Amino acid sequence: MSEENGRQSGGQEKQVDFGYRKVDESRKEENVKEVFEGVASRYDLMNDVLSFGLHRMWKNTCVALSGASRGQKILDIASGTCDMAIRFGAAVGREGEVWATDINHGMIREGVKRLQAVGCRAHVAICDCEALPFEDNYFDIAVVSFGLRNMTHKDRALREMTRVVRPGGKVVVLEFSRCWKIFRPFYDLYSFKIMPWLGKKIAGDADSYRYLAESIRMHPDQQTLAGIMEQAGLDRVAWKNMTFGVCALHIGLKP
Ligand SMILES: C[S@@+](CC[C@H](N)C(=O)[O-])C[C@H]1O[C@@H](n2cnc3c(N)ncnc32)[C@H](O)[C@@H]1O
Repeated sequence: MSEENGRQSGGQEKQVDFGYRKVDESRKEENVKEVFEGVASRYDLMNDVLSFGLHRMWKNTCVALSGASRGQKILDIASGTCDMAIRFGAAVGREGEVWATDINHGMIREGVKRLQAVGCRAHVAICDCEALPFEDNYFDIAVVSFGLRNMTHKDRALREMTRVVRPGGKVVVLEFSRCWKIFRPFYDLYSFKIMPWLGKKIAGDADSYRYLAESIRMHPDQQTLAGIMEQAGLDRVAWKNMTFGVCALHIGLKP
């Protein structure tokens, strides 16, 4: 699989998807940063409202099926407000090690408040998932939850996650996915009309929530993502659909 959706035209910079728009490859990361900087303070509230609280169940299922156990080392990529880092922190206990990493200061700032509030001792680092500052084979599990679809090069991000996981360790991807056909008309209405409206009412920002809906549609479906994970060097990639495939959990093993 080549770098996501890129195209080269007449010596100009490669274009990549930013929702339904095409932007210069070098601009996408900045655009994504702007989206999350803008919504950081309302991010957790909006997650609960927009998913009717379902994201909590998806995340709990992700931690349970990852098989994380006490004493393990976990890397949470695109940790945002540290929802997954907190859950994995509880799973691995005080003898374990959890790193919450993100590219966005605003999101991580909110996350640090939450880590402190629940007494979770996760380490925090600002870094780009496409170039992780960790040694090879260090972690038992690298997880990315609702972050992969924002990355400029999903394949690079997955290769980096695979690199830092030990042989026999897991790369875990929780992400919006392709929902069942029968459910799509309702889902489209909800995503493109109601979500941006709620975004404007609650977070004062319709555009970021329109980007959310678009970025979900542009993200690879379950089968395609499994292929990208295999090409990143993972074995036995399997996925579980949740809520009619609105969300899917992919897990791959590092050989
Ligand atoms: C939708 S939030 C997900 C937050 C959290 N993981 C969750 O499940 O609630 C997506 C996060 O991905 C981060 N992100 C986007 N591109 C990134 C990159 N290249 N490297 C690291 N983090 C990135 C954003 O800053 C944002 O915090």
